[in-house]
Amino acid sequence: MSQTTDTTVPGIQLIANLIKSGQATRIVALTGAGISTGAGIPDFRSPTTGLYDKLAPLRLPFPEAIFHINYFSHTPEPFYAIARARHPGNLKPTITHAFLALLAKKNLLRFLFTQNIDGLEHDAGVPAERVLWAHGNWKSQHCCKCNADYPVELMNRAIGLGEVPYCLRDGCGGAVKPDVVFFGQKLSDEFEQRKKEVSEADLMLVLGTSLKVAPCSGLPLLVKESVPRVLINNERVGDMGNRDEDVCILGSCDDGVRRLADALGWRDELECLWEEAVAAKKDVEIFDGGPSLDECIEKLASSMKDKMKVSDGHKQMLERHLNEKFGHLMAKPGP
Ligand code: OAD
Repeated sequence: MSQTTDTTVPGIQLIANLIKSGQATRIVALTGAGISTGAGIPDFRSPTTGLYDKLAPLRLPFPEAIFHINYFSHTPEPFYAIARARHPGNLKPTITHAFLALLAKKNLLRFLFTQNIDGLEHDAGVPAERVLWAHGNWKSQHCCKCNADYPVELMNRAIGLGEVPYCLRDGCGGAVKPDVVFFGQKLSDEFEQRKKEVSEADLMLVLGTSLKVAPCSGLPLLVKESVPRVLINNERVGDMGNRDEDVCILGSCDDGVRRLADALGWRDELECLWEEAVAAKKDVEIFDGGPSLDECIEKLASSMKDKMKVSDGHKQMLERHLNEKFGHLMAKPGP
């Protein structure tokens, strides 16, 4: 495919030229749920289609409670009702994941911070040593009470059936949780160590995130003032667009990376790499078919109506407590 000049977004060709001329070789990316919506995983905060709006029938004290360690330890059912729909079992990487893999293949991707736990960037070919899964992943799981290990086959079965897996240790009874970082839990120490990758970057890409959750939301602020930052997202987020060097490509991530690939003359290579990644992803039978996310939520809402109801007083107390203790991790309006 021939190279085109993209004039619809001022700056897109400029960014492509920086990369092509070798002036941007230490690219750091930050990704969020918006890069996986094309793979079929709803994001969290988009109105109507996002998971948090869909959870309304469950009458949670607040939407993020479903991923809060305190809430999960006594009420794990909502998490397991939606777990299957967020598990990447049979999902394929998007072309945005493939674009990140292409950058890595060209040795231009210095580091990727992802808030996603689906691992689709790795499935697309981004080497694990170049990624920090800031919010953990589905690869291992432990009892949230005694921290005992739990077999992955049993975990997959529970997720496939939408059932809560409980600790196998005699007398424990704790719910098992995948090793994803919940609100109220600390990120790995590697997060702090890797922040320097951002301050040393010569280009930052911010893809598919609302930048509403700390500490990842603060990463774009660490980019040096003179260094360009590119946002590819449905909407403007955080302080992206406030600096002279910023480039905002608004719309879907998949369209955005295709346009950037066109401007770089990489489009054919990108489409090939994506096709290969999709073909290589192996399906896991247990995750085939089954009820939709909305059906799972409705079913749980009707079966647990009484248990899920939280009195207003308790709700306020819980919110106060969570804000005090874990406010730094909770959703905040942009940085
Ligand atoms: P959000 O749902 O908060 O934000 C997703 C962003 O991507 C929004 O700005 C959407 O407009 C945009 N978006 C959605 N689909 C898109 C598409 N196809 N193309 C372009 N943009 C698209 O998701 P995150 O920012 O990832 O944490 O959320 C951060 C954290 O909040 C998550 O990791 C999760 C959540 O609570 C925990 O659970 C601990």
